[in-house]
Amino acid sequence: MAISVDRIRGDIEEIARRTQTPGAGATRPTFSPAWGDARAYVIIQAQQAECDVRMDSAGNVHARLKSLPWDEPAWLCGSHVDSVPHGGDYDGVAGVCVALELLRSAAQDSVTALPLELVVFAEEEGPTFGLGMLGSRAWVGDLTAEHLDRLRNAAGQSYLEAGSAFGVDPSRLRDDLIRPRRYLGMIELHIEQGPGLWRRGQRLAVVYAIAGRRQYRVTVTGEANHAGATSMKDRKDALVAAARIIAELEPLAERLSDKTVITVGKLANHPNAINVIPDRVEFTVDLRSDEDALLERGDVQVRRTVDNASRGRGLPCRIELTESIPATKLDERLCARLRRMAEIAGIADVPNLVSGALHDSAVVAKHVPTAMLFVGSEGGISHNPAEFSRVEDIAAAATVIEHLVRRPTLRRLNAMDRDAFLAVCGPLFEASPWIAERAWANRPFASTGDLHEKLTRIVATSGEEEQLSLIRAHPDLVGRLAREGRLTRESTAEQAAAGLDSLTDDEIKKFESYNAAYREKFGFPFVICARENRKEAILAAFPKRLANSREQEVATALAEVYKIARLRLADAVWED
Ligand code: HGY
Ligand code: MN
Ligand code: MN
Repeated sequence: MAISVDRIRGDIEEIARRTQTPGAGATRPTFSPAWGDARAYVIIQAQQAECDVRMDSAGNVHARLKSLPWDEPAWLCGSHVDSVPHGGDYDGVAGVCVALELLRSAAQDSVTALPLELVVFAEEEGPTFGLGMLGSRAWVGDLTAEHLDRLRNAAGQSYLEAGSAFGVDPSRLRDDLIRPRRYLGMIELHIEQGPGLWRRGQRLAVVYAIAGRRQYRVTVTGEANHAGATSMKDRKDALVAAARIIAELEPLAERLSDKTVITVGKLANHPNAINVIPDRVEFTVDLRSDEDALLERGDVQVRRTVDNASRGRGLPCRIELTESIPATKLDERLCARLRRMAEIAGIADVPNLVSGALHDSAVVAKHVPTAMLFVGSEGGISHNPAEFSRVEDIAAAATVIEHLVRRPTLRRLNAMDRDAFLAVCGPLFEASPWIAERAWANRPFASTGDLHEKLTRIVATSGEEEQLSLIRAHPDLVGRLAREGRLTRESTAEQAAAGLDSLTDDEIKKFESYNAAYREKFGFPFVICARENRKEAILAAFPKRLANSREQEVATALAEVYKIARLRLADAVWED
């Protein structure tokens, strides 16, 4: 069953309906009724897709197909359904819906035990309890029950109190911590929340790093006084002092770097009355940068700005660091895998990006290999009811992740029955399943390198006739099969990767005459690893290799076949 755009769109719309501010964006604070309804929707959908669902004692939801044991290594895939006040319909929700759709399509394809675990993290955003990524940080042990007990929502409830109805249980928190050995890695699909992809018309990006963040609370203390009877020179106006600090933060960010941003998002003015000079102002500062050194420098300069204002105006100004998260590099190997899966899914032009926004992936990345995919945000708008992303791009991301999670790990390959093993390893050698049939007896394989070595040894020790049959099983490059669209899936992708599917007539003629001359001389087709060569290199190789002896060319052809098999094996099996 292909990934369904309509089902993903339906999920996003259903979750969007569950908001405290209908018609004014998504407002779903964690543990609120709207959040609980959205969470319940995801749980029901997962159960209808033949999943078992579990809540951990940090308030997060986990779901696996019933056929996948909870202690079996799996890919963690998901995001969050809590939102900022008046936020958009795609932030976090897109990633949860992708995970849901992967489970559904597996159930419908009768793919049993798909190694995927959906996760919905609680309170990723931060405005509800004053700190973000609470569910993920409590799950990995970065936050303890004591931390969670100190955090209060607008109703004055602690995270533990407000979350108790949703499985939050301080007594079980330690037992419920993440078990990294249960995860092959984490993949989070998220909207870019910036303008780049949409503006460049790119469908997907691989996120290889996430900016770091420091958050502060600044309190300026002045003196309440009468707005009419107090001369300007006698005032101790906390709000004017705060305004001076805030006005300086903007140029400060610009001086640090074009990737450094500072936001004052929340401000409380006391007593906030039209005719009273404010005596206390409390505001937040959110500093982000993709380099820790800039966060350090920014920290010093933000503190200095506050101190200068305090001294300059003779008012006490207190600054407290409420959060410090370093910039996070995501897993290179998993990022490369996602890029390769996007290529296989036919999605080109996939840039590598750094995320300016923070995500639960930054928390989990310290414990399991983690990577993210982005889809574009229209106009770069997010944390705004106008937030919009194309569901078709979200579905494309789901297809890329599906390519990855449906490929077996080496561990699973070793445990496969013969037919399943041959289905994976038979195509490694073009139209020559006999090699994998003989390798079957050599299980278990210690690594994909070990498997490849055993496969090639089977070829090297087979007779000349079998070796020639293997070479002859390869199609001509740019040959009749290619023109008739009858190449194997692997050869089609490989010839396309070398640019052989877009040749001029003149180039086609060259290939045809070289192929004919080569077959004439050696009695078998010219074989080269097309994925490692562009068309120019291939055309240049022909005359050199035509000058070889037949014996040399059999050896060269087999060496190219081994390279092709190595690359196909890397695509087919994930070395866990
Ligand atoms: O603040 C962030 O970066 C995320 O949207 N919680
Ligand atoms: Mn988010
Ligand atoms: Mn967000």
